[in-house]
Amino acid sequence: MPSSYDHSDVSPAALPEYLIRHATLRQLQVFEAIVRLGSFTRAAEELFLTQPTVSLQVKKLSEAVGLKLLEQAGRQTRPTEAGREVYAACHEIMRTLVDLEMGIANLKGLKRGRLRLGVITTAEYFAPEILGQFCRAYPGIDVSLKVTNRDRIVERIITNEDDIYIVGAVPTDAPALTTHAFATNPLVVIAARDHPLVGQRQIPLASIAEEPLILREPGSGTRDAVIKLLGEHGLRPSVHMELGSNEALKHAVVGGLGLAIVSLHTLTLEGVHGPVAVLDVEGFPIMREWHLVYPRDKELSPVSKAFLEFLLEGNDNLNTLMRSMLDEAFPNLAKAPRPRPAHKKT
Ligand code: PGA
Repeated sequence: MPSSYDHSDVSPAALPEYLIRHATLRQLQVFEAIVRLGSFTRAAEELFLTQPTVSLQVKKLSEAVGLKLLEQAGRQTRPTEAGREVYAACHEIMRTLVDLEMGIANLKGLKRGRLRLGVITTAEYFAPEILGQFCRAYPGIDVSLKVTNRDRIVERIITNEDDIYIVGAVPTDAPALTTHAFATNPLVVIAARDHPLVGQRQIPLASIAEEPLILREPGSGTRDAVIKLLGEHGLRPSVHMELGSNEALKHAVVGGLGLAIVSLHTLTLEGVHGPVAVLDVEGFPIMREWHLVYPRDKELSPVSKAFLEFLLEGNDNLNTLMRSMLDEAFPNLAKAPRPRPAHKKT
């Protein structure tokens, strides 16, 4: 007796009108993105599709399933009960495809393959260069880079969207992670070049807390480090403005709106003698580290393993760059804190 799902003995013409097997992978991919991101617009952006295309794909998927999959709750798009079932299945299907891709990459060796890298906002100042060097070393490998904030990186780790991630502080709200510290991430106080504090030495931390401060958005690792340092000294910043990008922060500083604290990496292109000056403040630079992380129970693809090795062993350029920028930014310090080689696995 065939099960209710077994249509092998039924002619195609006799099949029910609604059959999920008419759904395409593309439709599932679009649907998964809408549910995960809670919005058609964000899904369209992520997948580089137009909104009408996204709507059409979901409509076709709904038709194939024969049930409504999404509903609006205010401005949020949410899955219906059927939608939640489909969403769970999407994850299973995508996990199977990733495993398949990994198996195929194994068969082909490292000649071909794909690396999906997710990085925290500030890492955008160096991750593309590293990927460029990696692609030159392994020309058959395609890479995708997703730059986003910490909360979204944690979500991406949970939903297994990328192969490997670059973060500042290791997230504590993600599943257990394997972590490798691979480079230093000094945080410095910046001011407009004509600010009265420029050129002063060992500026007390308390004076910084009194200046109007421009902070990164909640959820930023840089912001957390600043608030922690000030808190440890019993200081509360006088927050003048919150901005969601390092570039916006730098422009606001140049525009005279206040001081800000950023990673030294954000000054890589213009250097420390550009329109933004680095101040010599007590307790700075705050020496943080960049970490490469991935879920502890995840088996890395050959491409990801190659990237890991490339970053940990073949590449000390980042530390060298940070060291020379620190030397330039703090010429008067007898001994500026030095980036230490940071190849640590936990
Ligand atoms: P952010 O993270 O870009 O979110 O500030 C970087 C960091 O943690 O240093």
